[in-house]
Amino acid sequence: MINRKKVMVVFGTRPEAIKMAPVIQALRQKESILCQVAVTAQHREMLDQVLKLFKMVPDFDLNLMKQGQTLTEITTRALSGLKVVFQRELPDLVLVHGDTTTTFVAALAAFYAQIPVGHVEAGLRTGNKYSPFPEEMNRRLASVLTDFHFAPTETAKRNLLQEGIAPEKIFVTGNTVIDALLATVKPEYSFLDPEIQAILKQGKKSRMVLVTTHRRENLGEPMRQIYQALKSMLETFPDTHVVFPVHKNPKVRKVVTEVLGAHPRVNLVEPLDYEPFVNLMARAHLILTDSGGIQEEAPSLGVPVLVVRDTTERPEAVDAGTVSLVGTNYESVFSELKRLLGDQTAYQKMAMAINPYGDGSAAIKIVSIIAEN
Ligand code: UD1
Ligand code: UDP
Repeated sequence: MINRKKVMVVFGTRPEAIKMAPVIQALRQKESILCQVAVTAQHREMLDQVLKLFKMVPDFDLNLMKQGQTLTEITTRALSGLKVVFQRELPDLVLVHGDTTTTFVAALAAFYAQIPVGHVEAGLRTGNKYSPFPEEMNRRLASVLTDFHFAPTETAKRNLLQEGIAPEKIFVTGNTVIDALLATVKPEYSFLDPEIQAILKQGKKSRMVLVTTHRRENLGEPMRQIYQALKSMLETFPDTHVVFPVHKNPKVRKVVTEVLGAHPRVNLVEPLDYEPFVNLMARAHLILTDSGGIQEEAPSLGVPVLVVRDTTERPEAVDAGTVSLVGTNYESVFSELKRLLGDQTAYQKMAMAINPYGDGSAAIKIVSIIAEN
């Protein structure tokens, strides 16, 4: 068909891929749109897991991940790689997601090529430049380069309005993370991985605490304190066990292994594919994480979340009571774990399913807006 609008979706890490998958599916169903996918591969294995699950084959792959990469390296390599792709393809719109360095750089590269930018999951803010680092600045910088702001919530829209973004450029759509989640969590899901089967079997009578950590500002001492708090929790509550899919970052792996590696009721596993991971989340008693995406998914599943960070850009679930911000020092993390595991009433108060982040129709809304503009 002639005159199809060419939309290039750019992402680089696991969470962006998960949250862009529903958008790509919806774009591909629109006859008036030609959808292309470019990945920086800021993540490699963890990105490939998602590409495979959602059957996404990138048209361009910069393959830039290096062990222990610095922010400057990701920025410069992605910027020069995307420049070539954009110059060659001249898309009508570049679509980015969230707050990674890939997000900011893709928006910048699009600006240099004078291509309009759409930002999915726009408007999240903590107000603290260094927390999370560098995500708070990545998303603020992306906002000033963006033409179409797809805000997941009214709070996110308010943040953008406060920064002077024109109201007609902001669209509240819900978060595509819920589109992906609702399509993937199944009550009858059976785990194929023998390691997970064994963990579930072994932990049948005990409460599962699911853990993930990866934030740059938590590397080193904060992570060590978080893991020590988990160790104390295991000693205090013999009916608990920890399942911990460990992020590929070697700096995370080193501390996790040192503190928790030898504990008989800790299962350190490789990052799980998204499908088993979210179905495992649905079976967890409690989640402890510094992840952004998990803070959005768990409330939908009615699983309480302790967020091991000092700030959050996702206040909606905290306000609703299913997410609690507990910081990163040993005392604060351990005391909140003790409170929730020892007090059934406190636990029940947090364990309710709410949906502040959407109803599963965000991608359809985003694509309709793109098609109409
Ligand atoms: C990145 C994003 C962060 C996002 C997170 C999701 C930035 C600066 N950070 O953080 O916003 O929340 O992804 O997980 O954009 N590694 C592998 N294989 C992989 C992925 C990572 O080996 O598939 C290792 C590499 O050694 C790499 C390191 O992890 O250098 C860190 O990866 P990087 O993308 O720089 O930072 P993340 O902490 O993953
Ligand atoms: N996730 C996954 N496998 C795992 C851990 C997490 O598929 O072992 C998913 C999770 O369901 C969520 C996303 O990865 O959708 C969150 O990614 P991450 O925590 O790495 O990044 P953030 O959301 O903090 O940017």
